[in-house]
Amino acid sequence: MNQDIERILFTEEALRHRVGQLGAQITTDYAGKRPVLASVLRGSYIFMADLTRAIDLPITVDFMSVSSYGSGTVSSGQVEIKKDLSDSIEGRDLILVEDILDSGNTLHYLRTVLQARKPASIRICTLLDKPDRRSQPITADYVGFTIPDVFIVGYGLDYDERYRNLPYVGMLKPSIYAES
Ligand code: PRP
Repeated sequence: MNQDIERILFTEEALRHRVGQLGAQITTDYAGKRPVLASVLRGSYIFMADLTRAIDLPITVDFMSVSSYGSGTVSSGQVEIKKDLSDSIEGRDLILVEDILDSGNTLHYLRTVLQARKPASIRICTLLDKPDRRSQPITADYVGFTIPDVFIVGYGLDYDERYRNLPYVGMLKPSIYAES
């Protein structure tokens, strides 16, 4: 896998450090509360695992699965809930956990759907933010790193379902996605 990577953007150490900071910030901001962290699968699974362990609060976790990209590198703009949350979020402080905020289609749609379930609050925590590509009016409350419009993989992010298990975030060689 490593030979398919052009450049490492965020090393394991940089990710650990930044995720620790996000966890500490959430711990401070939600002091005295019991937020539910909802991970939007699949891309956020590694970030979710590390982030939750960096939060020193009696949180609960939940998961949902959404698809918007298919196998390409550009968002189709179509959002579909494939697996919904297991528990009610009514009256709960909800933190949506994403690996990347790109066009904003996914989170814009999800926020609207979840807001209707009457949570006490909704905030968004994303590891990566690509503001240059935003087409929906949405910003994250917690951002790990702001990045330019480059195609990245690793630490949960995939290309055609591969590379999620790389321990770092890297730029894929263009020759890899030009092949398909
Ligand atoms: C990715 C990512 C977000 C979404 C962000 O998911 O995990 O959910 O795209 O893009 P947007 O802001 O343009 O909507 P993807 O559909 O690739 O599925 P995955 O999480 O299973 O990799």
